[in-house]
Amino acid sequence: MTTVRGGHDPAAIDEAAALLRAGQLVAFPTETVYGLGADAFNKDAVAGIFAAKGRPADNPLIVHVADMAAARAVVGEFPPLAEVVAAALWPGSLTIVLPRGPRVPDIVTAGGDTVGVRVPAHPVALQLLKVFGGAIAAPSANRSGRPSPTLASHVLADLAGRVAMILDGGATEVGLESTVVDMTRDVPLVLRRGGVTLERLRALLGRVDCLEGQDTSAVARSPGLRHRHYAPRARVVLVGEGEGEAAVRGMSGRVGLISREAAEGELVRVLPGSAEGFAHGLFAALRELDLLGLDRIVVEGIDEAGLGAAIMDRLRRAAEG
Ligand code: TXA
Ligand code: MG
Repeated sequence: MTTVRGGHDPAAIDEAAALLRAGQLVAFPTETVYGLGADAFNKDAVAGIFAAKGRPADNPLIVHVADMAAARAVVGEFPPLAEVVAAALWPGSLTIVLPRGPRVPDIVTAGGDTVGVRVPAHPVALQLLKVFGGAIAAPSANRSGRPSPTLASHVLADLAGRVAMILDGGATEVGLESTVVDMTRDVPLVLRRGGVTLERLRALLGRVDCLEGQDTSAVARSPGLRHRHYAPRARVVLVGEGEGEAAVRGMSGRVGLISREAAEGELVRVLPGSAEGFAHGLFAALRELDLLGLDRIVVEGIDEAGLGAAIMDRLRRAAEG
């Protein structure tokens, strides 16, 4: 049984923390997407995450903490440059990969010697972390391969009966996952683009390298990148800005459209023109259209500046699937 509770209700937070202490799974909102949480120091509880999601065991999990002090209990070492970036961007949509601390079980890191840590910028997530008092391992709360959930109803659609409680915090603000940056190297390396832009990281840190999605070295560094991702059931077709309606007309079958222009129709979802607005609504639009049982969903791409780069990364992966 899965219960859905209001995330801002203190009694619900207390119950969620008690469930986590008992080794159960709790889904909760972050500012990026919903997470599927378990006590990060309880390996049996964490095993439940992999089972519930159908997640490959070689894909490590992000550990969520309330603050810097709690982060220190998870990592082996906090290098000075990592402190700079954490001080500037936490709480926020940045996961920092650091040497793993001794308390973190193998299953969290997929056996690797690094761990990804993040302080999320969402009042419900922070309150849960505070009341729970430990560290919460949490991937996005979707079945493996599906678009990440940006609403509690998305979590329920994917994981009903597989998670003890869902804390409902409404729509997540960013709508895309966190940026993952490996800070164990001389030059920081972005493994996954996300809510914090590369431009922002470079302004803070100077040189920052970035793995583009297709780089095969990504396979060793961030195993999650090689798995099928963000894909609805319908085939996703990525086209240029303003090319959506023409592309739909040229296709047979039932074809949906995600556009940022004033297009109309039952199978059309129009998203805001800004990259922030597009990111916020994208996964929900994909899931809504997918419920209509379409053959294809045409999505108009966006300029790769700022958050646009992370959006295009997700769209390319969705289109590959
Ligand atoms: O915004 C987010 O990051 C959300 C919310 C819930 O925090 N979480 C999320 O988790 O997207 P997940 O598991 O869906 O994606 C985590 C990504 C995966 O690609 C994984 O391979 C990578 O981060 N990752 C985690 N730990 C890592 C590590 N130690 N080294 C390299 N990559 C790591
Ligand atoms: Mg995920």
